[in-house]
Amino acid sequence: MYRQSALAAYRSRALTSTLARLSVRASSSSSGPCTKYTDVTHPEDPASLDPAIQRQLHRLESCTANTYARPPLIFTSGRGSHLFTSHPTREYLDFSAGIAVNALGHSDSGFIQVMADQVGSLAHASNVYWNEWVGELASLLVGLTRKEGGLGYAPDDSYTFYQRDSGPHLFSRTYTEPEPEDLPAPSPTGAKVFISNSGTEANEGALKFARKYGKELWARKTGKPWEESTKTRFLCFENAFHGRSMGALSATTNPKYQKPFGPLVPGFDMGKLNDMSSVKFITEDHCGVILEPIQGEGGIFECDIAWLKAIRKRCDEVGAVLIYDEIQCGLYRTGTMWAHSRYPTTAHPNVITMAKALGNGYPIGAILVKDEIAKAVTVGSHGTTFGGNVLAARLAHYVLTRLSTPSFLEHLALVTTTLDTRLSSLAGYFPSVVSSVRGRGAIRGVGFHKPEDAAKLVKMARERGVLFLSAGKDAVRFVPSLNIALKDVEHAMDVLESCLAVMSS
Ligand SMILES: Cc1ncc(COP(=O)(O)O)c(C=O)c1O
Repeated sequence: MYRQSALAAYRSRALTSTLARLSVRASSSSSGPCTKYTDVTHPEDPASLDPAIQRQLHRLESCTANTYARPPLIFTSGRGSHLFTSHPTREYLDFSAGIAVNALGHSDSGFIQVMADQVGSLAHASNVYWNEWVGELASLLVGLTRKEGGLGYAPDDSYTFYQRDSGPHLFSRTYTEPEPEDLPAPSPTGAKVFISNSGTEANEGALKFARKYGKELWARKTGKPWEESTKTRFLCFENAFHGRSMGALSATTNPKYQKPFGPLVPGFDMGKLNDMSSVKFITEDHCGVILEPIQGEGGIFECDIAWLKAIRKRCDEVGAVLIYDEIQCGLYRTGTMWAHSRYPTTAHPNVITMAKALGNGYPIGAILVKDEIAKAVTVGSHGTTFGGNVLAARLAHYVLTRLSTPSFLEHLALVTTTLDTRLSSLAGYFPSVVSSVRGRGAIRGVGFHKPEDAAKLVKMARERGVLFLSAGKDAVRFVPSLNIALKDVEHAMDVLESCLAVMSS
């Protein structure tokens, strides 16, 4: 007991002197780091929890698979970037957006109305038939990519396509296809879309497409039956995360995730990100290369453009499909539709996978494929029961419409500028703790000298009412809602600096 209070007194003295050193200030300014939030306000020890919540947690845990180490919180509602628990006084600032999912924040009123409207009309009728929205979503994904750049296309403002209004029109059911003379002539599309239910399934599908395309290409080149093809290998990269199904897991190179589940799908080789010597690993036997332009779960590591160009060139030489997994970094998180939108087209992929922000919380993923590869995906070669059902497709169309609106992107630019400004000071303020600041736009990471500090900081911030995520071996990750209020960005950064100040002591 005595030792504990002596330790507490020592820590308090150490903190006071550190705060003095850091030129204490109450909130964000240019005079030094914020130290206003050093005290715990959201304790998680059992004694501080409402007994009814403890009982509820105990009951829920008793029959739930133990795959997550969750803190003792049950979120019951959300609004914007704020989450609320069943504990009456507990409100959290969600700076992780459900792991880069809730791009429009929680309980967005338009999203709610569109969902109600669509559920009130039709939720699902299967992929055996056309529905009104799956093709509209595909058209929007292709059209925006052609306009804004990506998938081998440079940005092209003159690109025209018909964009149907998916906004809330409660229970209005009349739609008439416009006459061709009422619309500008549509530009050629050049790409096709397959809708899945998640990011993992999008990658799984992309790997299958690459295998089928590769086998058929090999058969055309050699004149032998495609069944004999040896063009079946994939190259993936260190610290990658592509999902947990057997195929996607085979490309997810983290031994912690892979080892217990071997043997995995054969034919996956691993290279090092941004390492030019990895380029030569791509051989005639490779049907595909899969990478994240900005690795998310693996620790926020961005690919160099020169390296991507070399990978692209080698893929072209051997006829391998280049898949960019933009599930976490894509869909405007970096300010443009794709993280690679503004790269030279010689650094573009021929397949893009996406999920997360596409549904703003409703499960959906998609594969965007160049026509040449889409030709290999014939009737019956892939499928899903739920993927692209009318509810998911309409919601995703609505979300994408909102994300691509100029005023939305203007606000996002302010968010990322604020983040840039605040994060750029950290290594200077806390050189003994912070090793690096990584990423761009609204996918950012702070690396720590001591890897264990990342998890420590996530817990400290949560105990002060802000939700961050860890990433990879040594980083804390910031992937907030894209429409987060600037005052919430400042608050999250204030809490981050306060926690780092405590850590530095
Ligand atoms: C880059 C990337 N790819 C794939 C996945 C898997 O997506 P999902 O969890 O929707 O299956 C994730 C999920 O975090 C991801 O970040």
